[in-house]
Amino acid sequence: MTNGHSLNIQMAMKARPPLDEIDVELFSMVLCFSRAIEFLHPKISEHHLRVAYVASCLAEELDLGQEEIQDALIAGALHDVVAVSSAMHFDLFDDALTRSHSSGRWFPENLHQHGWEGYLLLRDFAPFAKAALAIRFHHVNWDFGHGSEFDGQPVPLISHILRLADRISVMPENEHNVLAQASGIRLAIAAETGRCFMPMVVAAFDGISEKESFWLDLTSPHKEEIVRCRFGNSKLSLGLDGLYQLARVFGKMIDYRSPFTATHSSGVAATSEELAARLGMSPNETTLIGVAGNLHDIGKLAVSTEILNKPGPLTPAEMFIIRQHPYYTHRILSMVPGLETVNTWAALHHERLDGKGYPFRSRELTLGSRIVAVADVFTAITENRPYRSGMARAQCLAVLDELVTDGAINGDVVAALRGDFEQIHHIRCQSQQAHVHTCSVSVSASPGA
Ligand SMILES: [Fe+2]
Ligand SMILES: [Fe+2]
Ligand SMILES: [Fe+2]
Repeated sequence: MTNGHSLNIQMAMKARPPLDEIDVELFSMVLCFSRAIEFLHPKISEHHLRVAYVASCLAEELDLGQEEIQDALIAGALHDVVAVSSAMHFDLFDDALTRSHSSGRWFPENLHQHGWEGYLLLRDFAPFAKAALAIRFHHVNWDFGHGSEFDGQPVPLISHILRLADRISVMPENEHNVLAQASGIRLAIAAETGRCFMPMVVAAFDGISEKESFWLDLTSPHKEEIVRCRFGNSKLSLGLDGLYQLARVFGKMIDYRSPFTATHSSGVAATSEELAARLGMSPNETTLIGVAGNLHDIGKLAVSTEILNKPGPLTPAEMFIIRQHPYYTHRILSMVPGLETVNTWAALHHERLDGKGYPFRSRELTLGSRIVAVADVFTAITENRPYRSGMARAQCLAVLDELVTDGAINGDVVAALRGDFEQIHHIRCQSQQAHVHTCSVSVSASPGA
């Protein structure tokens, strides 16, 4: 029987990539993270949208320019990206979001560490650079003016906007009408002015929070649309290069969650690009398949790290959850207009030519999907992981040949890999090593380092 999703997949598979008109909105990509987290934990997704909304309202009330309003919104939408990505136990995060976000109980070791690591993760993508800096300091208290600096660095105004937006966003209680809570929240914020929050930002909050519409927007279930209207130029497009750069950032975000696969997406992207070039794809298609490689496991954002990083064997129930991830990759990417081809190439990486793959059991796999599938297996078995070394050439090719014989993956793609194995292997290794160095997000990274 054909359902809606497999129809989408089939339509996308037949579509030729409109490579001359790659037209993906930056705004849609900004929301990718909260949409991905929505599958795992709706409350945390809501938290990011709320902070994005409040931060952009505060920036506007403070008469900041359109670009800074946009920076505030991006920073709000991504501010806890690292805290969420590394979360093992969401009940603790729940507690932080409902009662004690500012107390630091959720962040037992260093309240500022996730801001610092979020900064490292996002700063290399130019349109996120200012938002990344704001995220770095989003838990810095105003401390009666001392908070204008932290670790010897100036703290941007947007960080103090985020600090307040973060607090406001967790205060309304769902069980009660938000309008009935407004004056109590205003009083509570006023009581922390100067110590936690910058007085100028609190004054802006006083201005916007007089309006009932502010509170109704804040708690509206249609917040994505509300936030979109506040994003200055929601039609701002990423060209192919911009999309590629952003996909690399997302790849790091995906890989960041598991030490087992710490640079996997980068390896799949590099391998896919090399194979695509050797199999006759155009330079634009080759770049686009790099985007697909970086995003192929974005659905893993919808799988808890508790399962992703489980040291022992997975239970059957956990295995089912892991196997959902390419489905979520498809769902997440299908929410971004313009990514249809990328979606097809990325989301079908666990499909098999004989129709026994998952989750769509599709047999109609385009060249791009076949390439990413081979690149995924090749990268998985040749990369070093904490618990084992990667396979050498002979063993790797034997595994791939067996999969070809089994009817799982495409022989032509494997032949292209065999034809230039050393070079492709070298490029994959280099890409994964470079990824470690440019990311610099590691357990040892620390603020001020
Ligand atoms: Fe935070
Ligand atoms: Fe937060
Ligand atoms: Fe996967």
